[in-house]
Amino acid sequence: MSEAQLNIVFEGLLWPSHVHSEESLRYAREEFQVRDDDVFIVTYPKSGTTWLQEILPLVYSNGDLTPVHTVPNWQRVPWLEQKTGKSLLENRPSPRLITTHLTYHMMPKSFYTSKAKVVYVSRNPKDALVSSFHYHGMASFLENPGTFEEFIDKFLEGKVMFGSWFDHIKSWWPRKDQDNILFLTYEELLQDMRSALLKLKEFLGKPLSDDAIERIVTQTKFNNMKQNKMSNYSFVPEELMDQKKSNFLRKGIAGDWKTHFTTAQTEHFNSVYTQEMKGINFPFYKD
Ligand code: A3P
Repeated sequence: MSEAQLNIVFEGLLWPSHVHSEESLRYAREEFQVRDDDVFIVTYPKSGTTWLQEILPLVYSNGDLTPVHTVPNWQRVPWLEQKTGKSLLENRPSPRLITTHLTYHMMPKSFYTSKAKVVYVSRNPKDALVSSFHYHGMASFLENPGTFEEFIDKFLEGKVMFGSWFDHIKSWWPRKDQDNILFLTYEELLQDMRSALLKLKEFLGKPLSDDAIERIVTQTKFNNMKQNKMSNYSFVPEELMDQKKSNFLRKGIAGDWKTHFTTAQTEHFNSVYTQEMKGINFPFYKD
């Protein structure tokens, strides 16, 4: 496939054509029937999506590891907007766990009048950028990232898959106090998974025993997920994801951007960040 064919453009944004089509995106927006007991994981790419695809099924199984040891993450918590979304989700029994990278404004029409819940996970955009840069370097169905400098420019201009980080966060953040939305950060999951699980327990109204919490804390540690074939994308052929170049579960840390950005790049990023986030009462990622 040529570089030009790697993305489709829908509503002015780029979507990897390997897994998205105009039809799948239209279905997600216009036809998908959201149920009140649906739970969505919403993320900007490379912000902890796969992590939540491990955590949520474990919350729903009360820490029983069977689902995460037997079902691949993309079937466990399917992506709404991907080509497989309709077949994997339409007739799935409730409660459905659903993944999406959609902005608030692009959610299915039936979402806005539903009681469906959203767990939104944000990550320091510089770390999401670094993670995305390496992902583009290992996945043949994504555009060549170019140099790191070039990739920073594309990221800041929103000329990357799923559009601008700023537009994504600015679409969801104002809704953070709604009863049906829980806002978490990648960094808090890293720092204190137990507290995050208690928040999820309350938000989702799921009973979770102390034993279950311990099992989930252990199973969702980076090194354990990295070993889990159902979550580490090792089933994907090397022609599509070359994990010799970079693992999908790559480093799993906060602040890796510091080993990638020069001082000038940091200053440039921060000035665009300050401009973009002006007037938005968003307390994270000031440095
Ligand atoms: P890095 O490339 O920085 O390591 P997504 O699932 O949204 O594509 O995000 C992928 C990023 O989340 C990768 O970041 C991956 O390593 C990280 N990640 C996934 N599971 C994790 C875990 N259990 N602990 C920490 N980071 C995790």
